[in-house]
Amino acid sequence: MFVSDCLGVNALGHLTIGGRDTVELAQTFGTPLYVMDENEIRRACRSYRKSIDEYYGGNGLAAYASKAFSCLEMCRIAAQEGMGLDVVSGAELYTALAAGFPVEKIFFHGNNKTPEELTYAVRNNVGRIVVDNLYELEILAQVAKAAGKTVPVMLRVKPGVDAHTHDFVKTGCIDSKFGLALENGEAFEAVRRTLELHDLRLTGLHCHIGSQIFDIEPFELAARVMLELIGRIKRRLHFEIDELNLGGGFGIKYIPGHDPVEYEKYMKRVSGVVKGACREQGIKTPFIIIEPGRSIAGPAGITLYKVGGIKDIPGVRTYVSVDGGMADNPRFALYQSEYDMLIANRAQEQKTGRVTVAGRCCESGDLLGEAVPLQKVKAGDILAVLVTGAYNYSMSSNYNRLPKPAVVLVNGEDARVIVRRETYEDVVRNDV
Ligand code: LLP
Repeated sequence: MFVSDCLGVNALGHLTIGGRDTVELAQTFGTPLYVMDENEIRRACRSYRKSIDEYYGGNGLAAYASKAFSCLEMCRIAAQEGMGLDVVSGAELYTALAAGFPVEKIFFHGNNKTPEELTYAVRNNVGRIVVDNLYELEILAQVAKAAGKTVPVMLRVKPGVDAHTHDFVKTGCIDSKFGLALENGEAFEAVRRTLELHDLRLTGLHCHIGSQIFDIEPFELAARVMLELIGRIKRRLHFEIDELNLGGGFGIKYIPGHDPVEYEKYMKRVSGVVKGACREQGIKTPFIIIEPGRSIAGPAGITLYKVGGIKDIPGVRTYVSVDGGMADNPRFALYQSEYDMLIANRAQEQKTGRVTVAGRCCESGDLLGEAVPLQKVKAGDILAVLVTGAYNYSMSSNYNRLPKPAVVLVNGEDARVIVRRETYEDVVRNDV
């Protein structure tokens, strides 16, 4: 009935998440409020791990891409579930370290890591630094030398697979700010150079073809392209790559029309391609890393708002304003992302109209959705926007000096704040 398995309706006709009444949660913790279901997060982590065990003999690691949703408790949960972790900034790394995340399972990404961030990562013995470009490679070598350490690195390659158009034009992603180009020999040159740099130890290659991808074919193609490169490296440089990181990007169901592939199917098909390509190339099957972010955190989260003013503009549209908006969820403003929404306090009622859900920021583009199917709505209702666990809190801002909402984690009878709501004092905390 719902876009996410952790949602339901109780006897009062209220929307539930992880069995908890969302109207009660809104009353207890205030709105806007992010709510995440712990069991749903853990279930997603386990299904990735299980699929690696089942289809790839356990010779791999699912690393949670923490850019989707990072906070101390989320890092702890990922650690408890045996996940690796993808971080993309000094502060995401700091969060992971502060949560006690096992450092050897952290992957540090980014197309322009600063020398300070690289030094911080090296000092803390981060598991793998995923080098994006030749400039970074040289800087990292200097950092490693200065620290007197041999730093394990992976190289990020653009496999030239355009996942969004579903048109497997190999040149499709040449225009990307991420990674080393394949077609002009840049990636190969980076491998050769890394092998010369004795303070760096090349463990593997990485690629990531995009996000919210529904098809498996682009992943298969990317894997094949990467394994051909690994084969070429073995033949020409007599070096065998141990690890292949195939990135994240697995699509999730935001609206009823979305039809994502089960994670198990992804691993089944991709591991088949990997094994076949390794036989063809005469190389050993690498340790595989995948980096799901959205599909771990997204379906586990919802956002609760209180409805305020409603403006019916006859013949035009109805604006329903809520007490949050682009500051806590900029994804409609940025990408016209669609969300499923409902009135949490009358969740069992039919949706009879279509409305524009507007935020409270001084910005016409501050909308959460247009032509959104919704029940009859009135001021004081609790609006639930579903599947907001990924890239909502993590992309939130203080625009209009709005304090960021709290994040509450539910687990059966337990509902606890894992990120506190910001106060007005928090908003001015760094002002001088
Ligand atoms: N690995 C790398 C290197 C990535 O760049 C990303 C996402 C992931 C893994 C995780 O991808 P996921 O499984 O979450 O699709 N802000 C955008 C999404 C940006 C994704 C950036 N990279 C949004 O809200 O849709």
